[in-house]
Amino acid sequence: MYKIAVIPGDGIGSEVMQVGLGVLESVCKKHQIEYEAVDFLLGAEHYLETGEALSDETLEKLKSFDTILLGAIGSPKVAPGILEKGILLKLRFALDQYINLRPVRLYPGVESPLKEKVANDLDYVVVRENTGGLYTGIGGRSMVGSINEVASQSMVYNYAQVERCLRYAFELAQTRERKKLALIGKSNVLTHVFDLWLRVFDEIRQSFPDVKTEYYHVDAACMHMVRSPEMFDVMVTTNMFGDIITDLGAETQGGMGMACSGNLNPTKTTPSMFEPVHGSAPDITGQNKANPLAMVMSVKMMLEFLNENEAAKSIDQAIVDVSQKSFHKMSTDEIANALMASLQK
Ligand code: IPM
Ligand code: MN
Repeated sequence: MYKIAVIPGDGIGSEVMQVGLGVLESVCKKHQIEYEAVDFLLGAEHYLETGEALSDETLEKLKSFDTILLGAIGSPKVAPGILEKGILLKLRFALDQYINLRPVRLYPGVESPLKEKVANDLDYVVVRENTGGLYTGIGGRSMVGSINEVASQSMVYNYAQVERCLRYAFELAQTRERKKLALIGKSNVLTHVFDLWLRVFDEIRQSFPDVKTEYYHVDAACMHMVRSPEMFDVMVTTNMFGDIITDLGAETQGGMGMACSGNLNPTKTTPSMFEPVHGSAPDITGQNKANPLAMVMSVKMMLEFLNENEAAKSIDQAIVDVSQKSFHKMSTDEIANALMASLQK
C-alpha cells in the first residue's frame, strides 16, 4: 500500500493533476497496486489565507509519505519567488531530493521544431543536481540603493554533493543501452567549481569502465542539443545549468506540455517528488487547454521509482497511443479520455 501525497498547486496544476490521478487510478486497478492519495492544498490560495507557504508541521506530515505528486506552483497573485522558494525549493531541499531527473524524448507523432529529427533521435535524460549550486542563495547585498550597491550569489558545491550526484548519473548510464554519460559544465570560466566536478567525475569513472564519458561546456551543449540531440544519452550537470538546458530540451521534445521530472532522493530515506516541468500557466488556466501528458509522464516516472515497471509501461503505451493522434488540437478532457481508452484496451 503506497501513501502518495498530492499537491495540485496553482493554475493548471489542478487540471493536469486530475488527469494524472485518473490515469494512476486506472493503471493501479489494472496492475493490482494499492495506494492511498492524500491531498495537500498548498499554493497561492493557502498562502494568501494563512500567510504561510509551507509550514514545518505540513512538511513533517509529508515526510511520512512514499512519494509526492506535484502539479504546479506559482501565481500572479503572489510576488515572484515567495511560493517557488517557500514550497517547491523548500520541499526539494528539506526532503534532500538531490537529483532532478528530466527525460527528453520525442514521442512518435509529436512535431519537434527540429523537423528532420524523428522519434528515436531524441531520447536522453538530464540529471540535474537539485540541492546545491546557485540555488543555495549563498551571498548577500550591501549599500542597497546607492551606486555602490553590491549583490552576490555564489555557485557553491561541496565534494559530497558532487559525488552523490555524479554517482547517481553513472549508475543510471550503466542501466541504459548506450551507456553514455556527458558532464556539462563551464570549466573554462568557472574554474574552481568545475575543477571539482571534473576531478570527481574522473574518480568515479574508474569504477564504471563500461560507461563512455564525455565533457561539454554548457554553451556548446545547447548547440548540440538542437543540432544533433542523438549524441546524448545521459547528461549530468549543476542545478542552474540543469534548469536552463532542460527548458531547451523540453522545447525540442514538443514543448513544456511534454516534459516531466522527478525530484529524487535515491536513498529513499525521504519521499521523492514528481512534477511536470511546466509551471502553473495562468494564461490558460481554467480553459481546458492544458496538455496533461507531462503530468501523466510524471506519474509514470513515479511508478518506475516505486519499481512498478509493468504499470509504468502501460502508461507509456497509452502516451505513445495518444501522441500519434494530433493531441495538440485536443482539449485536456479529450486527451484524458483518449488515455483512458488506451489504458482499458
Ligand atoms: C523548475 C522551475 C523552478 C526551478 C522554479 C519554479 C523555482 O523553473 O522546476 O525548473 O528553477 O528549479
Ligand atoms: Mn526551470
